[in-house]
Amino acid sequence: MTVATSRLQEVYGNVIAALRQLVRDQRLTEDELHAAAEFLNRVGAAGEFPLLFDITLAVTSVDVTKGAAGGTPANILGPYYLPGVPWRADGKLYVKPLGEGAELLTVSGRVTEAQDGSPVADAELDVWQADEHGVYDFSDAYHLRGKVKTDAEGRYRFETIVPAPYEIPKEGPTGELMRLLGRHHFRPAHIHMIVRVGGEERLVTQVFPAGGAYLDSDVAEAVKESLVVPMQPSAMREGRRAYTMEFDIALPPARVPQAADLARH
Ligand code: DHB
Ligand code: FE
Repeated sequence: MTVATSRLQEVYGNVIAALRQLVRDQRLTEDELHAAAEFLNRVGAAGEFPLLFDITLAVTSVDVTKGAAGGTPANILGPYYLPGVPWRADGKLYVKPLGEGAELLTVSGRVTEAQDGSPVADAELDVWQADEHGVYDFSDAYHLRGKVKTDAEGRYRFETIVPAPYEIPKEGPTGELMRLLGRHHFRPAHIHMIVRVGGEERLVTQVFPAGGAYLDSDVAEAVKESLVVPMQPSAMREGRRAYTMEFDIALPPARVPQAADLARH
């Protein structure tokens, strides 16, 4: 991504002003600044700046750039989206053998326009999630990833497994920081989705099964109440516990200006 000089100048000026205010407010000593710099060097050496930004700043960015759009709230993309995932004509996102503890989950719902409630046919849901151990798959099988389409009434459905909470890397400096703060390293279980209509991205969000661990203490602080959805137990299938989840999606109007658009002027 290239950044326009005017945007860079404006953001740089404001970053420095905000950090100077922080130095004043906290009366930071030079020793403390050196300690912070040493920590940030370790973050960089570990390649963890994307992680640190994702858990500290991403949800705020989503809120200010997409929060006023209306409809189903947006949520963070996170680091694990893969483009180019296959269509799942049968709706099944699991393509590798499932672990013993994996429980089946059918997610379905209706996609509508938030403005008038009209159903959105042929919307594309691009879905990804962690497995029953909280692990994302990055193989070319695209296990627990895939795209499904809405029908003429705007209905979608996919078959997956119940995700487990995701734990950020604990060994690196970001994990160490959380430990020093007395915080855990988990995101509550969630399913990511991007909704596109006619090739245009209309919503990036996450849905959280209700009742799971860490919903009130997400390390990325990205849980939103209307994205927490109950799971209903259903009949066992394939010798496994099975659940259903209804998640209706109201799309914000198309083309809400984003910061990235402004940067292009
Ligand atoms: C991170 C991981 C996720 O799965 C997610 O949804 C958001 C953030 C992270 O590691 O920062
Ligand atoms: Fe995630």
